Amino acid sequence: GPYLVRLAWVDAGSYSIIDGSGGSKATLKLVPPSGGHVSLQTCIDAMELLKENYPAISTADFWAFAGTVAVYESGGPIVPYRCGRTDYKTGEYNASMSAGRLPTGAFNSTQVRKTFTRIGLTDRETVAVIGGGHALGRCHYDRSGYVGPWTNNPLRFTNEFFTLLANSNWSLIVNPNGKTQYNNTDNTKMMLVSDYALWADPAYQSITLEYAKNASLFFSDFTAAYQKLLERG
Ligand code: HEM
Repeated sequence: GPYLVRLAWVDAGSYSIIDGSGGSKATLKLVPPSGGHVSLQTCIDAMELLKENYPAISTADFWAFAGTVAVYESGGPIVPYRCGRTDYKTGEYNASMSAGRLPTGAFNSTQVRKTFTRIGLTDRETVAVIGGGHALGRCHYDRSGYVGPWTNNPLRFTNEFFTLLANSNWSLIVNPNGKTQYNNTDNTKMMLVSDYALWADPAYQSITLEYAKNASLFFSDFTAAYQKLLERG
């Protein structure tokens, strides 16, 4: 489940509102994932096998659909879904339209805002999609090098990312892989530096506090923002 949510986001996250390039176009099939995104290949290969049964839709539609269903199956909202994405063909993209545009876990709030503004999302939408995405799953030392889950139940879609971000004591640590991340006091939960930006930045912080206090507001904002994100490109 979480793996599929991540695949759908990483495909969409290369979008540029400036020239309309990138976005949900299954670019990762043409440009092999690199850097922190290397670990998505297993997911892409498994999805390619399944996709053979659904020749009528594009790969980008298939990935976005899987990400939408995975949120719902985890107890999250029903996010409206529409087909119509086209896959890039070789020659239609250049390397800058792919993973190189994605944020890294080391980004500060300025870099996070710059990236999500390019994707075409507001501060509210940015906070909603990052905290919703990271309600699910975890960081794997053998994939990204970061370690640990964000929440107590990584298979359940909740607003817990925000309650923990707002209410825990976070310390900046260097993990055994040499990666800098925030851990809570008993080292059972983590935040990337880019997640902590949703607390460190005053404008992001006030939205984090709203979502920590009001789960249904978060669910409805997430629904609209995630649909928008997956329809980029
Ligand atoms: C600043 C933006 C973001 C950064 C830097 C970021 C970075 C990361 C990193 C480093 C991981 C760990 C990968 C691993 O070790 O397996 C991860 C996992 C994940 N991300 Fe993000 N992410 C961002 C935004 C998002 C968004 C917007 C979503 C979805 C709406 C999302 C969904 C996920 C999910 C579900 C996982 C867990 C995957 C698993 O358990 O296999 N992320 N992200």
